Amino acid sequence: MQFEPGDRRRRLPRHLREPEPDPGTFSFTIRPATLRDLPDVREIYNHYVANSVVTFDEKRSTHRYWREKFTMLTKLALPFLVAVTPSNQVIGYALVQPWASKSAYRYTVEDSIYLGPGAGGKGLGSALLQALILACEEIGLREIVAVISDSGAEPSIRLHSKFGFVEVGRMGRVGFKFGRSLGTVYLQKSLTPKPRRRLFHPRRG
Ligand SMILES: CC(C)(COP(=O)(O)OP(=O)(O)OC[C@H]1O[C@@H](n2cnc3c(N)ncnc32)[C@H](O)[C@@H]1OP(=O)(O)O)[C@@H](O)C(=O)NCCC(=O)NCCS
Repeated sequence: MQFEPGDRRRRLPRHLREPEPDPGTFSFTIRPATLRDLPDVREIYNHYVANSVVTFDEKRSTHRYWREKFTMLTKLALPFLVAVTPSNQVIGYALVQPWASKSAYRYTVEDSIYLGPGAGGKGLGSALLQALILACEEIGLREIVAVISDSGAEPSIRLHSKFGFVEVGRMGRVGFKFGRSLGTVYLQKSLTPKPRRRLFHPRRG
């Protein structure tokens, strides 16, 4: 059946329509981030900057900060994923960045994963982390590290442990936010890299 512009019958008959998602179900797609997603990504991250100690950033991140990070990750061909609703609203993101700049660290990355308000506790973090790990293995990365606040980040520790990250160390009192000292927990996972493809090369130091 053809629908021409101006046709009053804009909606297809029920039996020909795509099934609509049940409003009670939590539906999302995971895809690589684009420049257009960055304002949503920034809002998600800034929520935790302003209201939590899961990140040690204290000043809200800027558009410029996210544009530069996006450009850097794109150049290095490192995964930066977003989870979007059927209406393309970003509800979470996950990325990896070089663990350190010296070139011998080139097979090791640090991950970062944040969900928007209301998106936690429904399996989205698991879906994003799984996709991120696969994307890292695809490009031949070998080790992935998570640096997690030792306060208020139990969901993150639980999430990473579920995917085989193991605690490799802790540092106490290295951060200070909202008037109190904070430590960090280091979790590490060895990846199963696919046969070697392109790899990023951090700047020499
Ligand atoms: C960490 C985060 C990404 C987890 O995402 P999520 O969608 O809630 O995680 P999932 O629903 O996939 O659950 C993953 C595991 O964490 C556990 N978990 C989720 N929320 C939890 C909570 N509030 N307390 C304790 N455990 C929790 C789940 O039970 C699940 O473990 P299980 O499968 O063994 O039961 C999300 O909570 C978040 O964005 N937190 C704030 C930002 C943050 O801390 N980022 C990490 C910085 S390193």
